[in-house]
Amino acid sequence: MQVILSDALIESLVNITGKNFVFTDEETRLHYGHDETEDYNFPPTVVVKPGTTEEVSSIMKLANQYNIPVVPIGGRTGLSGGALSIHGGIGLSMERFTKIEIDERNLQAIVEPAVVTQVFQEAVLEKGLFYPPDPSSRGSCTIGGNVAENAGGARAVKYGVTKDYVLNLEVVLPTGEVIWTGANTLKNATGYNLTQLMVGSEGTLGIITKIVMKLLPKNNHNMLMLVPFFKAEQACEAVAAIFRAGIVPSALEFMERDAIDWTLRYIDGVNIPIGDAVQAHLLIEVDGNYPDVLFSEAEKITEVLESFDIDEILFADTEEQKNALWKIRRAVGEAVKSNSVYKEEDTVVPRYELPALLKGIKEIGNKYGFSSVCYGHAGDGNLHVNIVKGDMTDEKWQTEIPKGIREIFELTVSLKGTLSGEHGIGFVQKNFMDIAFSNQHLQLMKSIKHLFDPNNILNPGKIFPDNL
Ligand code: LAC
Ligand code: ZN
Repeated sequence: MQVILSDALIESLVNITGKNFVFTDEETRLHYGHDETEDYNFPPTVVVKPGTTEEVSSIMKLANQYNIPVVPIGGRTGLSGGALSIHGGIGLSMERFTKIEIDERNLQAIVEPAVVTQVFQEAVLEKGLFYPPDPSSRGSCTIGGNVAENAGGARAVKYGVTKDYVLNLEVVLPTGEVIWTGANTLKNATGYNLTQLMVGSEGTLGIITKIVMKLLPKNNHNMLMLVPFFKAEQACEAVAAIFRAGIVPSALEFMERDAIDWTLRYIDGVNIPIGDAVQAHLLIEVDGNYPDVLFSEAEKITEVLESFDIDEILFADTEEQKNALWKIRRAVGEAVKSNSVYKEEDTVVPRYELPALLKGIKEIGNKYGFSSVCYGHAGDGNLHVNIVKGDMTDEKWQTEIPKGIREIFELTVSLKGTLSGEHGIGFVQKNFMDIAFSNQHLQLMKSIKHLFDPNNILNPGKIFPDNL
């Protein structure tokens, strides 16, 4: 079902934002019709770029009155299709919401949703402060999108994910009312926690117009090492062993051989020697304020690693080397995408189960005839599984592969994990939700959605299975 908007409705939108911020031309619609999810494009019928909370509210009132779907759009780097206008309607690009106000007295900031994550990180760093969530797409993703998807990234293992920094939100509800969900406090035991309900709701419960973020003091030192393993499953085993030895690294990332090889081919100017028999790497960072402590932590990690079958560890000595290693890690997703159409799963299990998950994924791949490139936030038990289409027929890709994916998720859930650690459910994973939740559980979630959005206009067709 695609919506057609009458000229009168378009005129009403123009009356709200002014004509410079309403677009119906094909080029703009296509531009806002995709994020980074596979090769999908679902253009909105009209793209609107409001400039104030009041304008967002007026748009929502209008949309609610005339039953027009509205899809909030951020940096369009999502991997589950949250920003796709699958039914057309209004694509609500929040890109004019770019203010940052830093409150140094309280170690907080009020951020508007279109602030690019890296811009925010750097702005607080200038004041000696630290915003830890660090998605790979930080150079183009936005804080609003990060909140909507509860984004994670490499530092989550020590510092938590986006939700751990969100204190309060200004939200325009689907019916047009504006609320603040909580208070600008570190603690809050006052009623239901609507702030955290909104975080990770994937643009289905409200439009976020302001975010109050908690900040930390910045720390001054880190050490980074790249550890090559001869067996990929052993790299996964080492992860839990490092924590059991009493260390909490600030990043503990896993990359299969293909992930690093494809990325080295994809990016310019970075090269690292890799032995032929190496199957996987762990990228391990420790951070803090005291170099001595970091040295002894790094030493303890290397002691743990000695009981595994590893090649020579590369310690990044200079900022340049550190940046090069992080450049590789951040580019893995793009590198895989540049190689082939792929489906990206965002499996997450308790970290000790990671070797079992990796082994199971490869077995399922053999059964269904697909290859996968696995990498991700091993310290969190969060493995990104990129299933590569290569020269597979469209028919197999569309009918057989989803059966294999279902098996991967069944395995994940049987290991007490779940479908997504940080990418969300959105459009592409919704029909697997029955694996993680009973019908009653899904109905409960849907009732919450209905309370917020009685006419189901806000980002419809996401999260919930089609047949619910
Ligand atoms: C990453 C994104 C894909 O970890 O989540 O690179
Ligand atoms: Zn990730």
